[in-house]
Amino acid sequence: MAEQPLLTPFKSDKLNLKNRVVMAPMTRSRAENPGTVATDLMAEYYAQRASAGLIISEGTYVSPEAVGYINVPGIYSPEQVAGWKKVTDAVHAKGGQMYAQIWHVGRMSHPDLLNGNLPLAPSAINPHAQVYTFTGFKETVAPQAMTTEQIKKTVADFVKGAQNALEAGFDGIEIHSANGYLFHQFFNATSNTRTDEYGGSIENRARLLFEVLDAIKTAGVDMGKVGARLNPSLEGLFGITMDEETIPTFDYIVKRLSADYSLAYLHLTEPMTDVSQIPFAEQHIAKRYRPLYDGTLIINVGMTEEKGNKIIADGDADLVAFGKLYISNPDLVERFAKHAPLAEADKDTFYSGGTKGYADYPKLGE
Ligand SMILES: Cc1cc2nc3c(=O)[nH]c(=O)nc-3n(C[C@H](O)[C@H](O)[C@H](O)COP(=O)(O)O)c2cc1C
Repeated sequence: MAEQPLLTPFKSDKLNLKNRVVMAPMTRSRAENPGTVATDLMAEYYAQRASAGLIISEGTYVSPEAVGYINVPGIYSPEQVAGWKKVTDAVHAKGGQMYAQIWHVGRMSHPDLLNGNLPLAPSAINPHAQVYTFTGFKETVAPQAMTTEQIKKTVADFVKGAQNALEAGFDGIEIHSANGYLFHQFFNATSNTRTDEYGGSIENRARLLFEVLDAIKTAGVDMGKVGARLNPSLEGLFGITMDEETIPTFDYIVKRLSADYSLAYLHLTEPMTDVSQIPFAEQHIAKRYRPLYDGTLIINVGMTEEKGNKIIADGDADLVAFGKLYISNPDLVERFAKHAPLAEADKDTFYSGGTKGYADYPKLGE
């Protein structure tokens, strides 16, 4: 019987993976210590999932200003780098590979998480969303519009985050430029009303991502170890609404990444909600962007063994990322190989802290 496409190795000039199953980045709020350092429990959790072709870490903050959820690990202090080193060592010891997703939430934060300071964002527009603070969920506030100086500092923080990730033993980094966080807030005209070189035109709204990539390259980081994540048809989640320029903006970004940046991969997500009634939305992200991107493409959202195999067989993506299924099936690859039943994830323990619903999902036969 021919091997499933998902389980075949993947080789490019930048990646060499034992299969095409990717663990999607997922915040799990288990860095329950004052310095938000990755823990031994996190090392155990990721090592349990090392049979994935590639693991992408949960979003990890590049600075104290980037914070937007409690108990999420950072990657800016020496202690945090040392904590992550234990995680990458544990994954490598099991034959896995792991990228760090580096992150700034922008306006998706709250003064309670920022020593009383306002969150930073392209413009002072409240996303009217909920943020989880030390005292439970709170309404977001109108953020502070970033000064040029704050933007330059943020670019430098991403460079440092990338360097720290490589020092911590990650095989590469993914820029979290999706899901309504800082970069996405710059891309979208409904969250970016700036009149300087970071607002107005499509080129200007996309500028921050390219400045970060250029700065990472100038710092000497191998761009073949850098990926980026985009969620073009995000609507109604994380404070993002689309307009007629949203998809043209992503078209521009993808084409430019393809032409000018030789990245490890581009990680795209299909719509997270039903966008069939949204006139500006693209419903088929992989199909639209595969022809526009001349490099390795990862696709995610709602994937199954069957869908993943079909997408690869059809040539619409090279790698397939699984989120929730990886929470509850540490041996997802082995289960696919046996077409075994899959366990369902318990939503109540996604961000609850502790081992329960985290490192205690059994492998087949355990
Ligand atoms: C608990 C949880 C935490 C998540 N955290 C992140 C994150 O830190 N970064 C990110 O890019 N996406 C995050 N996501 C989105 C996932 O990467 C993925 O896009 C989503 O779960 C859809 O894929 P699925 O249908 O396979 O679960 C998270 C999703 C879940 C369920």
